[in-house]
Amino acid sequence: MMSARGVAIGAVVGAILMGSFWIAVAMGTSPSDELVYHGRIGRIFRESCQTCHREGGIGPFTLETYESAYLYRDLIGFMVGEGRMPPWFANRAVGTWDNDRSLSDGDKEAILAWIADGAPEGDPAHAPAPIDWGDGWQLGEPDAVVQIEEPFYVPADGVVDYQYLYVKTDFPEDRWVSKMEVRPTAPEAMHHVLVFIEPPGAKSARRAEPGEPIWMGGLSGYFAAIVPGFTGNTYPEGSAKLLPKGAWLKFQLHYTPKGEPVVDQTMLGLHFMDGEPEWVVETGSAFDTRFEIPPGAPDHEVSAEYTFVRSGRLLSLFPHMHLRGKSFKFEIEYPDGRSETILDVPSYDFNWQLPYHLEEPLRVPAGARLIATGTFDNSSANRFNPDPSSTVRFGEQTFEEMMIGYFDWIVDDLAEGSDGTGEGH
Ligand code: HEC
Repeated sequence: MMSARGVAIGAVVGAILMGSFWIAVAMGTSPSDELVYHGRIGRIFRESCQTCHREGGIGPFTLETYESAYLYRDLIGFMVGEGRMPPWFANRAVGTWDNDRSLSDGDKEAILAWIADGAPEGDPAHAPAPIDWGDGWQLGEPDAVVQIEEPFYVPADGVVDYQYLYVKTDFPEDRWVSKMEVRPTAPEAMHHVLVFIEPPGAKSARRAEPGEPIWMGGLSGYFAAIVPGFTGNTYPEGSAKLLPKGAWLKFQLHYTPKGEPVVDQTMLGLHFMDGEPEWVVETGSAFDTRFEIPPGAPDHEVSAEYTFVRSGRLLSLFPHMHLRGKSFKFEIEYPDGRSETILDVPSYDFNWQLPYHLEEPLRVPAGARLIATGTFDNSSANRFNPDPSSTVRFGEQTFEEMMIGYFDWIVDDLAEGSDGTGEGH
């Protein structure tokens, strides 16, 4: 005969066993919301991590299976808790961004609670269908592909300095590019690609013969800035960027060794617009090349500005500094005296050369000033600092510095002699 106490215990055990089920029912939740891998957690990884953490992706391990997620749970807790993963560096209180990959507070708490709970697996029957990432172009088959000519050998380890490789385009006339995407052949070792245009005849320092004028156009504009794991560049309906006939494309490639040697031959996929665009996308920048960062300076500030002589709409912002970059912000001063911060990156990470795509284009009247301010940490407290004892100046190598606040924008009126390359401000 079962005692009253036994019944009570049985009821408690039963209640515990049924607990998650009844809690789920009481809260109106489904198995996909449960704090288990095959519930909510795997779904968060699928949405927010797998673009990079998957087979053949840029992330150092995959987040496609329970085994892998369980194995890395402590590291995941640390990186997610610190806000270092997914990579996203903008202060959330300023602006809203189309390519924002950061986790919501709720998702972040869910991951941390799941780890604290021992990272339970849950019922595989409730797993979502896996995403078919494919291995092709994410934005569809491009109209043309430009590929770096020679394969690049990425060593197994160490630091690979930025590579600069040139490709001459041979389209029979000017092209209007409506979207583009970069596709490394060794995506696991590719951290970012920045592509610059050199108009025919112009030569940057590395291509110029001694005595020839040096093209510094890369300072005031890039063609494409793409980080694998983020989508490429798609310009708003009716707008496009000019690729002049006969232009050279200069690829800046940032490789990060992945433990075994790989060979890469990056491709840039271009989608062309038929006919003329209604709106032209230009890239401009606020830059400074004459700064000097004293040895050991922990917080050296450099500002640069750009004045809009024409009105238009800002599409994206892209801070560019090197290893000593510490923080970056973009502000706008309007002709009526009003000013606002439009992007705030409180802790800049050189390893992540991220463009920030505005969710809604921002109107800029003629006469507005864009002010970019970067700070640099040349002290030994900066663990990326290659040499705290040197005075650091402008230069292309990563041990030198850059201070460039790039932006993509749509110009309202091209009547005033623009050639679409972003030059001439
Ligand atoms: C845009 C690509 C991208 C996304 C999205 C991303 N990661 Fe990462 N993750 C990386 C790369 C690349 C590294 C290697 C370190 C670096 O380059 O910063 C990394 C490193 C990590 C590490 C540290 C591994 C180590 O050995 O130090 C963890 C943990 C991690 N990611 C977890 C996550 C989680 C969890 C998510 C989603 C919530 C996520 N990541 C989203 C690209 C990404």
